[in-house]
Amino acid sequence: MKKVITYGSFDLFHNGHYRLLERAKKLGDYLIVGVTTEYYDNSRGKLNVVDSLLMRIESVKKTGFADEIIIEDHDGQKLEDIIKYGIDIFTVGSDWTGKFDFLKEYCDVVYLERTKLVSSTMLREQKFPIIKLGMIGTGRVAVRFPKELKYVSGIELTSVYNPKIDSAKKYAEQFELGLATNNKDDFYDSVDAVNIASPHETHIEYIMEALERSKHVLCEKPMCLKETDAIKAFELAKAKNLTLMEGIKTAYAPGFVQLIGVARSGIIGNIRDVEAGFTKLIPQQTRELTDLDYGGAFTELASYTLLPILKLMGCNYEKVNFESLKQKDGIDIYTKAYFYYKNSLATAKTGLGIKSEGQLLISGTKGYILAKSPWWLTKGFEICFEDTSKNEFIATKFLGQGFRYEISDFVKMIRGSLNGYEERLTVEESVTLAKLMEKFLSERKKAIAI
Ligand code: CTP
Repeated sequence: MKKVITYGSFDLFHNGHYRLLERAKKLGDYLIVGVTTEYYDNSRGKLNVVDSLLMRIESVKKTGFADEIIIEDHDGQKLEDIIKYGIDIFTVGSDWTGKFDFLKEYCDVVYLERTKLVSSTMLREQKFPIIKLGMIGTGRVAVRFPKELKYVSGIELTSVYNPKIDSAKKYAEQFELGLATNNKDDFYDSVDAVNIASPHETHIEYIMEALERSKHVLCEKPMCLKETDAIKAFELAKAKNLTLMEGIKTAYAPGFVQLIGVARSGIIGNIRDVEAGFTKLIPQQTRELTDLDYGGAFTELASYTLLPILKLMGCNYEKVNFESLKQKDGIDIYTKAYFYYKNSLATAKTGLGIKSEGQLLISGTKGYILAKSPWWLTKGFEICFEDTSKNEFIATKFLGQGFRYEISDFVKMIRGSLNGYEERLTVEESVTLAKLMEKFLSERKKAIAI
């Protein structure tokens, strides 16, 4: 019996898929089809698969060509399967020509001609019109954004707004955008959604005006510096049925999502302490160390360190205290936030100008989880126990600068196809982050006044 194997995502099942499977079946007597999991697609940079794994399996099943359907969920699995199932022929479409020649040592490799003029990507774009995105602000984060946006289908950066027209023009030239403007009407008229990357204190005004004009909003962290601002922004987004998302890239990264899932699974028992650190050394003259009102280590970095605390311990802490080391002008260069919960503790440590180990340590009654610096770009974490022979390291993917994950979730949110969004960053968590920023800034201001 000649055994054939092929793989694919088979998203929005189309004629190209049907023809591929039909011909693959004819190559032998028994056809095995590997369907990729969302997680695997995600980790190799295919971020906008629409149909669920079960739907995609069902589509393949319906053709009647597959004798067996398996799930592909990791790199290197193809070779494992070829050996495991005693495969004679490996086949995929001609868009992959040459890429799987290394398997020729184990079986025949056949590239079948790809069906022209159809692909899942094309169908996704037809089904969901491309979202036109406008950038507000042209600072450092804004510059890193377009490169990452290219990895997400269904969204395109078209316009940029900056009250300083020269900065807008320079940015538009760099990223080949159609519109650079300092006129808000022109800007909002040209887009469906905006990414706000302006100074922290200007966020809320842009958020409200964008929502008022029925635009979806992705806003850099910290999204709001006042609890009431965050509440009114989410209320307006809800009333207008629009997406409002706080862009803390870690929250949307697959490795961090997995880490939180593992921590919540009970494997380390009841969680009693979370310690999260993030410190950076930056030049003295940067905005973060010169902006007396909104600069400093906490406003700059605490969105990251507070995230695992709120996700694992919740937003109902009993008390929070801040301790800071400050410059003469009152800007904090090192801040520790101490949280007291009913049965547990947590610390968020941030530094700009003092360097420390920036790790995430989650301690429980049965063991602990350690994610080393830079844990906010979660590439892996270790689960540790008293009996160290049981320790396990889990490697996860974090591609590029990581913005692609939040952009991908933003697109899915707008399309209404993101199940479990609430698991990434809830409205309550975002509002609590604003509340903590507000408390910290008001205490710091009072201390300066003294
Ligand atoms: N395929 C094909 N003809 C097409 C599209 C896909 O023969 N027009 C083949 C691919 O070469 C692959 C299999 O179908 O062997 C599954 O492809 P998949 O990546 O799931 O589909 P695409 O339409 O290529 O998806 P995308 O646009 O997301 O890359």
